[in-house]
Amino acid sequence: TAVVLRPLALLIMRINEDTLLEGEKVVLVPYNADHVPRYHQWMCSPELQKLTASEPLTLEQEHDMQRSWREDDDKCTFIILDKQKWADPSIPEQECMVGDVNIFLTDPSDPSLAELEIMIAVPCYRGKGLGKEVTRMMMYYGRTKLMIKDHLFLFEVKIGLDNKITIAMFKKFHFQELSISEVFREVTLGVTVNEALQKHVFGNMDFMLQREYGKARDIRQAPFTPLSL
Ligand SMILES: CC(C)(COP(=O)(O)OP(=O)(O)OC[C@H]1O[C@@H](n2cnc3c(N)ncnc32)[C@H](O)[C@@H]1OP(=O)(O)O)[C@@H](O)C(=O)NCCC(=O)NCCS
Repeated sequence: TAVVLRPLALLIMRINEDTLLEGEKVVLVPYNADHVPRYHQWMCSPELQKLTASEPLTLEQEHDMQRSWREDDDKCTFIILDKQKWADPSIPEQECMVGDVNIFLTDPSDPSLAELEIMIAVPCYRGKGLGKEVTRMMMYYGRTKLMIKDHLFLFEVKIGLDNKITIAMFKKFHFQELSISEVFREVTLGVTVNEALQKHVFGNMDFMLQREYGKARDIRQAPFTPLSL
């Protein structure tokens, strides 16, 4: 049976505009203009272009892209920050950036289907459990924000056929092969998230906190006032 969620989804996708999600190793914040220069630098890397099937953009195009993502009702993008670095207010936020993650509704007529993309762009941060933590957080956020209780929700990912690490990671979360495109050299994996999967695969999500990004950033940037003696 078709699940008509669209009006809810429309409201929800923009909800992350001021949302900060805090995990154990990462902090997720909405992608904003301050993040674009570092993001652009990453995407100049031929390795990342290949792994994420992205085209190189100029800095100006990257700014346009950020604005369009922000205004897009069907897409929800977060920048992944190193939590430990971000806790140090002397380090500018741009220097805490390690990757990005987004969730979007692929088919506007079917809001029970979402596609997920993730990138740990900074190589020295890979293989340390960040990808798994962010995937859990993002799927939980998507599911709890987008899903009407007891209805099914399907997550899909499209991955290059040679990108074995990413394929292995999503299979750990019970994603299964849905189709393979030899033309695009990519596989589509999918998983239906229900209560059972949530409980057994994602486990306890109590570690994840949601806060207001604007306030958290202002507190972080507030000048340090030494206590007078
Ligand atoms: C794919 C990616 C998101 C994984 O994130 P990560 O933080 O490096 O991965 P994690 O440390 O959380 O490990 C997740 C799983 O990936 C697999 N994995 C990670 N590093 C691996 C390696 N060097 N070799 C083999 N498998 C590996 C394992 O299955 C691992 O689970 P395990 O630790 O329980 O064995 C990240 O490496 C990345 O962004 N790479 C470049 C961009 C990219 O390919 N994005 C996906 C586009 S679709």
